[in-house]
Amino acid sequence: MRKKPLIIGNWKMNLTLKEGVAFAQSLRDSLSGKNEVLCGICPSFVSLRDIGKVLEGSGIYMAAQNVHSSENGAYTGEVSAPMVKETGCTHVLIGHSERRNIFGETDAFINAKIKAALSVGLKPILCIGEKLNEREDGRTEYVIKNQLKDDLQGIRADEMKEFTIAYEPVWAIGTGKTALPEQANEVHSFIRSILAEKYGKYIAGNVYIQYGGSAKPENAYELLAQPEIDGLLVGGASIKLESFLHIIEAASNP
Ligand code: PGA
Repeated sequence: MRKKPLIIGNWKMNLTLKEGVAFAQSLRDSLSGKNEVLCGICPSFVSLRDIGKVLEGSGIYMAAQNVHSSENGAYTGEVSAPMVKETGCTHVLIGHSERRNIFGETDAFINAKIKAALSVGLKPILCIGEKLNEREDGRTEYVIKNQLKDDLQGIRADEMKEFTIAYEPVWAIGTGKTALPEQANEVHSFIRSILAEKYGKYIAGNVYIQYGGSAKPENAYELLAQPEIDGLLVGGASIKLESFLHIIEAASNP
């Protein structure tokens, strides 16, 4: 049996506190009584607490967009896993390509962040994906394999159950260029095979693997029709309620 699709909206640095709370209230109302799709949003740190209150009891997940690896300390401007957890977050994005490429996050740092998140019961949504030149050079699988190897260093099978992996080809993020559904499916299948080697087929089969990169109402249905695509991580199309709801609707009509 197929899993319920998992649709997460990554708001990035969009929507103020007021806008975010209003969005969350409308989302909650629109989805009340519906349970065909698992869904969640990733607001900015400053909105988490208030949005957490709005979403309480709704079944809608809330994820932070990032977390630091240390529990506390002299890290000006950073936010720790216990702080994120207290806001009501269930999940946290880790290793988003914007963090890797704009802010220079390494796989070792990402691995430490994953461990910090797990230690307080936050479920990691680990983002991985190749850049355009890497795909053109035929190195997609090599890049994916190495990211998984380094990011999941020391992660046990019972911890792996808490994970979502988001495959986000960097060339498709915010560019309007979506990976072809078959192209994405192929990489998802490769990711699952790597997880199966390390954690066994059962756990690999249960891990959610989302696609991200210019996912929108127009292509959501086609992407989700692929057998290995368990959900979508949506950036640009998640910050307008109407388009986010259209994606959720597409996901609820397999
Ligand atoms: P996009 O972003 O949908 O705007 O391409 C996806 C993401 O970065 O998670």
